[in-house]
Amino acid sequence: MPRHVAVIMDGNGRWAQRRNLPRIEGHREGAESVRDIVRAARQVGLEALTLYAFSSQNWARPPDEVAALMDLLRDYLVSERDEILENEIRLRAIGDIERLPVHVLEPLHELMSASRPNGAMALTLALSYGGRESIAQAARQAAAKVAAGDLAEGQLDADTLGAHMPTAELPPLDLVVRTSGEQRMSNFLLWEAAYAEFYFTDVPWPEFRRQELYAALQDFSGRERRFGRTGGQIGPRAAAGDGRDG
Ligand code: IPE
Ligand code: IPE
Ligand code: MG
Repeated sequence: MPRHVAVIMDGNGRWAQRRNLPRIEGHREGAESVRDIVRAARQVGLEALTLYAFSSQNWARPPDEVAALMDLLRDYLVSERDEILENEIRLRAIGDIERLPVHVLEPLHELMSASRPNGAMALTLALSYGGRESIAQAARQAAAKVAAGDLAEGQLDADTLGAHMPTAELPPLDLVVRTSGEQRMSNFLLWEAAYAEFYFTDVPWPEFRRQELYAALQDFSGRERRFGRTGGQIGPRAAAGDGRDG
């Protein structure tokens, strides 16, 4: 079982267009997939689920589509609040969330703080998120420490920079799923995915329900992760240390 799964929830627009529906109907159905996948992830015992809901680059979409996505996000936060708290899920957000409209920011901040004590699963929403932007942000924070004399320049290695990433408190990323046929990162967890496994499916996000998640987990269970070592080093009889570097 992976500890931390991240999903690039793609294909809402195409799903709708194939049905001669407006793209927003695809986003609406996609929100139902979010509900089902969060429940299923919690039930199977994932420690962390990270969902790419809105990228830094998605601000460039037509304003009515952006507005509709923001409204759906607010609806999700309001309607799922009780269930998230009852299931001891901690909600987090990564990305430049201050760009979000206030009707999203307000329930987001509220649920993040209400769910802070929860430890059953970390649900992280990537909102106004870009992987490059988050690396730049971490670099700025580390540079400020160097300038203030709190960090020696020579100590700024991968582990130290990694500790400044917004995902630093989450388990290492094990698996990235992308729906709807595209095989690219689209500026998602670039730093975190260094040793993640990838699972691509043609199923569009509105049709990606728990059975599809189970299929991805099943596929992951057959992967051999070597973290740079040889197969012989990481086999069942060479189990000393798992080779992770965070
Ligand atoms: C994913 O579906 C949702 C967001 C990016 C917000 P898309 O809207 O990208 O759907 P396609 O890729 O156009 O089909
Ligand atoms: C990535 O999907 C962003 C989200 C799923 C939120 P996009 O649909 O925006 O990615 P590109 O534009 O096809 O690379
Ligand atoms: Mg897309």
